Amino acid sequence: MKIAIYPGSFDPVTLGHLNIIKRAAGCFDKLIVCVMVNSAKQGLFTPEERVELLRRCTGRFPCVEVDFSEGLLADYARRRGAKVVVKGLRAVSDYEQEVQMAVINRKLNPDLETMFLASSDKYTYLSSTIVKEMARYGADLGEFVPREIVEDINRKMREQQERKGN
Ligand code: PNS
Repeated sequence: MKIAIYPGSFDPVTLGHLNIIKRAAGCFDKLIVCVMVNSAKQGLFTPEERVELLRRCTGRFPCVEVDFSEGLLADYARRRGAKVVVKGLRAVSDYEQEVQMAVINRKLNPDLETMFLASSDKYTYLSSTIVKEMARYGADLGEFVPREIVEDINRKMREQQERKGN
């Protein structure tokens, strides 16, 4: 069975992520979309909430499983019997960091290959960070994230702004 992992922060999942999930799901017997910790980023949603949002948006793909791990990707892949990591590449700016991570992950787990999918041209500009920035100013998110989670993002942003008193 060919198992691949699509790891990320997914804070929150965007239509760009979903496009990668759909395309990668067609290439493997099983695709594990794994919410992982990026120590350089502060989250809007908790990991459990991100998993729930992802499950809601990927339910129609029978070979996709959503999970969460706090550990190293290389260890997680070994534990799950996955030999491939899937990553989306949006622009040259993604390249350096993604290749660095691919090399480190293969040092930690020599059986693990990283495969890059070129992002669809519709989504090269899109990131969870940009989505959060738009939500902060009340912009319409309908074109950027799955419809079924738009209200969750707006609500979460309002709660955060109320907590911070702005
Ligand atoms: O969506 P992101 O924030 O670009 O995803 C990055 C992520 C979460 C995939 C990356 O930070 C990661 O793999 N974190 C788990 C810890 C790990 O294995 N780090 C890389 C080797 S030190």
